[in-house]
Amino acid sequence: MKIKIKCPSIIKGEIEISGSKNACLPIIAASLLSKEEITLYNVPLITDVISMIRILDDLGVSVNYNYVESKLVIRANRIKKDLDSCFVSKLRASYYLISPLIHRKNNFATLYPGGCNFGKRPIDFHLKLYKQMGLDITEKEKIYFKKRKLRPINYTFSTVTVGGTINAILSTVLIKGKTTLSNIAIEPEVIDVIHFLQSMGAKIQFIDKRSIVIEGVKELHKTTYSIMPDRIEAGSYMFLAMAKPNSQIKINKVNVSHLENVIEVINKLGGEITIINDSMEIKSPENIKNINISTGPYPYFPTDLQPILSTVLLNGNDTSKINETIYPSRNSHIKELSKMKASIEMNQGLITINPSPLISGMVQANDLRCGFAMIVAGVISGKQIIINQAEYIFRGYDDIMGKLCKIGIKCKKE
Ligand code: EPZ
Repeated sequence: MKIKIKCPSIIKGEIEISGSKNACLPIIAASLLSKEEITLYNVPLITDVISMIRILDDLGVSVNYNYVESKLVIRANRIKKDLDSCFVSKLRASYYLISPLIHRKNNFATLYPGGCNFGKRPIDFHLKLYKQMGLDITEKEKIYFKKRKLRPINYTFSTVTVGGTINAILSTVLIKGKTTLSNIAIEPEVIDVIHFLQSMGAKIQFIDKRSIVIEGVKELHKTTYSIMPDRIEAGSYMFLAMAKPNSQIKINKVNVSHLENVIEVINKLGGEITIINDSMEIKSPENIKNINISTGPYPYFPTDLQPILSTVLLNGNDTSKINETIYPSRNSHIKELSKMKASIEMNQGLITINPSPLISGMVQANDLRCGFAMIVAGVISGKQIIINQAEYIFRGYDDIMGKLCKIGIKCKKE
């Protein structure tokens, strides 16, 4: 799918942030840990959520999405055998469904999960955890799981991993006994999953900043829960506003405490931020300052905003550098920006960005965040650009065309 982006001289308007993709996907999977009715609010209408709904439907789970109310009602009183829906390999988050399945089936198989294609996306941390819990795993054209006796684990992560942390929690909340997890990820999305599980009756306690103890319970009960606002969507629009001098946008329904690392960068760039409860006003300066920054596990700057910040810095007044420590080959946007004559390169994770006027042209959304970065590039170029493979953007940005229109950016499907 192609979209055409036309940018006004300044960006001005007001938008509302939707529910978080990276909290919602594991919470949908976690709903299958109970046989009772789970009601979720603030569920974003994005294609990754639709894919997860299709997988649940394929598993024989009752799932109803009311997109007007952003409400999803799930009832998993029965689950068919395998995770073999074609949607499983369309998104990485499908691997969260393994955890409920180990409590429903003695043996089952799953297709390999998908995921944005910026370099290797291994799942070795997850499989290692499941083996420690008492599952035999065979990796062939599918991944085959055979349950022996499930046992609690005492596990320290060698690398901070969002998905690994979440799967460790999802799978042990129903394992009798005491599980201890250390060096866990503490992204707001992980905390949202923990709050959701606690609302279902899970016993999870923090014993220090990055360690938790889980007391396994026999079953989890029904709940109603509202997904946290999407901090990466909010940060994406905050940086989009910075792409045009003297622009001003207001974003509503954010959780400001999740955005401290983004607010810090916007201030360093010379942007002005006014916070009013769960709303934020962002004003861009005449000229963007250059900065040097590293991505890292929360509370450091999120890797998911690196492609978007890299693009904004092309408007900087001098050379900037970003050290991408999570995915050293997250560079699919760099290839596209170079087509627009940007002076930007990545070498072993270190991105060097020189001030560059951008020409218009046709670029490609190679993955979700690269796609949003191309919208930022179109705004910076001030000319009309065509973005190919725009379906990637719809995977994680709810009502992207409506929201761009609300801040003055014309976006139309070609
Ligand atoms: C989650 O991916 C997010 N995806 C990613 O967002 C995000 O970039 C990432 O966390 C880091 O914050 C979802 O939540 C669906 P990790 P995840 O496990 O859990 C390595 C987006 O744009 N690793 O924290 O897969 C991995 O390669 C997406 O919304 C292994 O080596 O990330 C990386 O270098 C993109 N083996 C590091 O750990 C494993 O088994 C951290 O990855 C798992 C991960």
